[in-house]
Amino acid sequence: MKIKTLLAGVAAGALMVSLAACSSGSGGGSSTDSAGGGGDGGLIGVAMPTKSSERWIQDGDAVKKQLEDAGYTVDLQYAEDDIPTQVSQIENMITKGAEALIIASIDGTTLTSVLQEAADNDIPVIAYDRLIRDTENVDYYASFDNYKVGVQQANSVLNGLGLVDLEGKATDGAPAGPFNIELFAGSPDDNNATFFWEGAMDTLKPYIDKGTLVVKSGQTDFEQAATLRWDGETAQKRMENLLTSTYSDGSKVNAVLSPYDGISRGIISALTDAGYTVGAEWPIISGQDAELDSVKAIESGEQYATIFKDTRNLAKVASDMATALLQGNTPETNNTTDYDNGVKVVPSYLLESQIVVKDNINDVLVKSGYWTEDEIKG
Ligand code: GAL
Repeated sequence: MKIKTLLAGVAAGALMVSLAACSSGSGGGSSTDSAGGGGDGGLIGVAMPTKSSERWIQDGDAVKKQLEDAGYTVDLQYAEDDIPTQVSQIENMITKGAEALIIASIDGTTLTSVLQEAADNDIPVIAYDRLIRDTENVDYYASFDNYKVGVQQANSVLNGLGLVDLEGKATDGAPAGPFNIELFAGSPDDNNATFFWEGAMDTLKPYIDKGTLVVKSGQTDFEQAATLRWDGETAQKRMENLLTSTYSDGSKVNAVLSPYDGISRGIISALTDAGYTVGAEWPIISGQDAELDSVKAIESGEQYATIFKDTRNLAKVASDMATALLQGNTPETNNTTDYDNGVKVVPSYLLESQIVVKDNINDVLVKSGYWTEDEIKG
């Protein structure tokens, strides 16, 4: 582990705070959020992928708050899903004297040289939610059990079709189907996307093999299902194409596996444009992230389920990892086997996720204070 000694760290920290105080806070990227605040613990750079998705805004805000509460100064940057922007934002953080980096990458394979720079400067790196690949210069990984998220996504679809309960246990007297299903995956450059896909496909496969589920388009490969940058419009276009190519014969799609709420919203738009209406043969659609618009869509019946990953807890784990490292301690991990980034297995802390359907919105999201009832009804 390449970490400054505590004394050197404290001295550097004092210097960094003064540097940070002089800096305008600009990270040189398209979307500078903030630099400043906090106390005298030193500067920590936090690189987030995009503000176009609500969840990353919540993640960034939560990490910033946790670190500032712990006495650190935070340089929080968003790169609007542009890889060179993210690279230059991280370079800027290093130049400004960041003592640790927390990074949610856009493309997990494109940070190798900037992370070499970080390593040359003894700056520890924590991969946030998305594993950073193909480099030895990533020290820890904070995320969720991503395979299990995929299992939950599949189970939420099967639950909506009346085949299993939310834990995946087969329902007595379950319908025989066949149900038409179409499959969407996340961004191929995001390590999480394959974990979600594998968890979901391992769960759906027995039903596909039995003929209970039919992927009518025949598009069952990850490459066919993938959605670059998790982009909702890309998903909408693919769904439109699927409806035209496969369902023009009057047949209906009964379920859509979607790995992320933004993709689900694209799918919903395509279905609405094609004349599907909620209540009348509207398909079961999954999601992920419990984004507010999608929670509303679950209330209204457009989306069947989402997966709740509490960004507040993730922010806490990642912040604790950074502060532990800066204080010369070893961060807590609970998985040292599953996340091989192509060069090494990155020690990880994985959190648990939960399926949210209409019936448990209140219990899971409102009672935990994630969303208020007014926000959901508003
Ligand atoms: C993944 C993340 C998901 C979702 C997606 C799109 O990396 O694990 O929760 O947010 O990106 O942003």
